[in-house]
Amino acid sequence: MSKSTRLDSKENESKLLPIYRHKEELILAVKDSTFLAVTGETGSGKTTQLPKYLHQAGFCKDGKIGITQPRRVAAITVAQRVAQEMQCTLGREVGYQVRFDDCTSQSTVVKYMTDGCLLREILADPVLSQYSVVILDEVHERSLNTDILLGLLKKMFSDSAKAIKGRSFPLKVVVMSATLEADKLSAFLSDCPVFTIPGRTFPVTSTFGFAVGPKDIESAGYLKEVLSFSFESGRELKRACDLLYEKRPTVEGLLILPLYGSMPTDQQRQIFQPPPSGIRKCVVATNIAATSLTINGIKYIIDSGFVKQLNHNSRVGMDILEVVPISKSESEQRAGRAGRTSAGKCFRIYTKEFWEKSMPEYTVPEIQRTSLTAVILTLKCLGVHDVIRFPYLDCPEERFILEALKQLYQFDAIDRRGRVTQLGKLMVEFPLHPGLTRAVLKAASLGCHDLLLPLAAMLSVENIFIRPGHPEKQKEADTIHRALAAKTGSMNDFATLLSVFQLCKSSDRPSAWCKDHWIHWRALKSAFSVETQLREILLRLQQVQDFPVDTFDGDKSELFRRCLCTGYFTNVARRSVGKVFCTMDGHGSMVHLHPSSSLFDQEGKLNWIIFHDVLVTSRMYVRTACPIRYEWVKDLLPKLHEVDVYELSSVAREEVTDEEMIQWETREAAKRQPEVSTEDVI
Ligand code: CDP
Ligand code: MG
Repeated sequence: MSKSTRLDSKENESKLLPIYRHKEELILAVKDSTFLAVTGETGSGKTTQLPKYLHQAGFCKDGKIGITQPRRVAAITVAQRVAQEMQCTLGREVGYQVRFDDCTSQSTVVKYMTDGCLLREILADPVLSQYSVVILDEVHERSLNTDILLGLLKKMFSDSAKAIKGRSFPLKVVVMSATLEADKLSAFLSDCPVFTIPGRTFPVTSTFGFAVGPKDIESAGYLKEVLSFSFESGRELKRACDLLYEKRPTVEGLLILPLYGSMPTDQQRQIFQPPPSGIRKCVVATNIAATSLTINGIKYIIDSGFVKQLNHNSRVGMDILEVVPISKSESEQRAGRAGRTSAGKCFRIYTKEFWEKSMPEYTVPEIQRTSLTAVILTLKCLGVHDVIRFPYLDCPEERFILEALKQLYQFDAIDRRGRVTQLGKLMVEFPLHPGLTRAVLKAASLGCHDLLLPLAAMLSVENIFIRPGHPEKQKEADTIHRALAAKTGSMNDFATLLSVFQLCKSSDRPSAWCKDHWIHWRALKSAFSVETQLREILLRLQQVQDFPVDTFDGDKSELFRRCLCTGYFTNVARRSVGKVFCTMDGHGSMVHLHPSSSLFDQEGKLNWIIFHDVLVTSRMYVRTACPIRYEWVKDLLPKLHEVDVYELSSVAREEVTDEEMIQWETREAAKRQPEVSTEDVI
């Protein structure tokens, strides 16, 4: 088939989508109102077609059309598709931008991006003066950043917001969602019109299984027609695919394709291609396939009933990765993916009882279950002082906001009045967790950012260590990984990551080096690119801002760990008995070192540690850790107990006067908790 015929067929294909018949009406609806809600079944063509229609209707005359996606893979694959349909090179008229990957140019007028990217753009340009249309897509997914964008856009047009009037041409806002949330959205956005695209779906019959649990994927016997959604990480998902490959002798003509958030672009494209004749396509996917991406021709779904989710646990005061049951609405959504092109079947490998008793009706929006620290700092930097009364579509619990404020105060990103500090203004520029940013900035002030930038990059990419499925190979990989850790001369998972980065980078053949050391080359390649970008941000800040400068005498390992302490002192734990550690953040949670840590089985030699994250399975595990000395955090730890969150809340509500502030500080000083005892210094 020649290239042009192929393009024509894509164009014709798009005319068959349900949205096509409503093209003119939709264009008019966008012209007629500031806010418009568009709803329709997934697969009706909203994401790929509406931006194209608006482009054709001349909306790009003054500014760009920006479309946000909660997931990076969706932003990338959809941009590729639309570039093809509009017959242009990706990155020219149609482009995408996701964190650490910008594929746009001067000529880009239709820009797909993650919601996080648009949020960053608002920081630099609060009225989005380059855009004529902003489309918030997949709003029903209720991602944290999309929810914040909704509030910001609503605020932008509120009566008191004069800034928007200063724009030279109007801004149109379209919010798109699957059917559920449309009325709520309309009510939130001053009762804006709702445009419904009638769907075209086929019936799906669902059956329940006999047992509950993620393991059942293996034993369920439905491997012939699998489309499972329970894996959040690429690694687990690839293991599931390996498992399927092993079963292949009994499953003739099966093309097994993984689909997950951080997968490489060339592999993503394969997902949408029809399989060769006589071959069945089997997509093993994370929940990205539930709404963000529509794959044509899926007839059977296997629904595990679970999802891996990052939840903020206020009992232990940390974000924790957990495997939790999905909601009933999510299970309906998953099943619905089988009925796009013909009648389908959904195999739920959990019992009806589990469905009734353990699954909530709806998924809790991210804003009500994850840490708000980074988002609250962004809001503060945008001049939203009262973060409690910000227009949230669904309010997060007040204690989550307070916890975020407290953490920002602890990191010195805001002062006692809840105002952003100089440091906070620097911190918001980095697309990293504020704690990690704080460590990077500390290192930069001491002139040793070459230690922290690569580490921050390594912590921002997916897992770098390959875990082969075969037990023999697994042993080999473990030995090599342990040797890499030993090379650093200390038990320090952070230093191991830094060392892998440096060794690979200085190697003559980095990809071969990775292969020899059971390291994911692709992850390392991303880490190199992320490091460069973080370095650029730092250089830019050092040039224009009043950058702090510090000095330190001591060895490199101490310097490295001390820098880490400035960002991770909220994640300090002290060994209590045996192999159990107790966190020092006031929650006193009991944690264990994860077996993947190079400190594992060395617990007896340790007293104080800091750690990067927490994983909960049968126990609470901390991963990526290193030993520290109590003196390094001694001056920081009292800060964990210094502020009373309820006091901070009254500060958060409104600007307080100096007088009130003095009164408050006096009260605070009287209440201040005694310092942590200095026994047990290593
Ligand atoms: O946004 P909505 O769910 O309404 O639909 P869409 O994502 O615009 O998808 C419309 C059609 O384009 C579906 O049939 C998809 O399978 C197809 N598509 C594709 O073939 N390749 C992509 N990269 C994206 C969408
Ligand atoms: Mg869509």
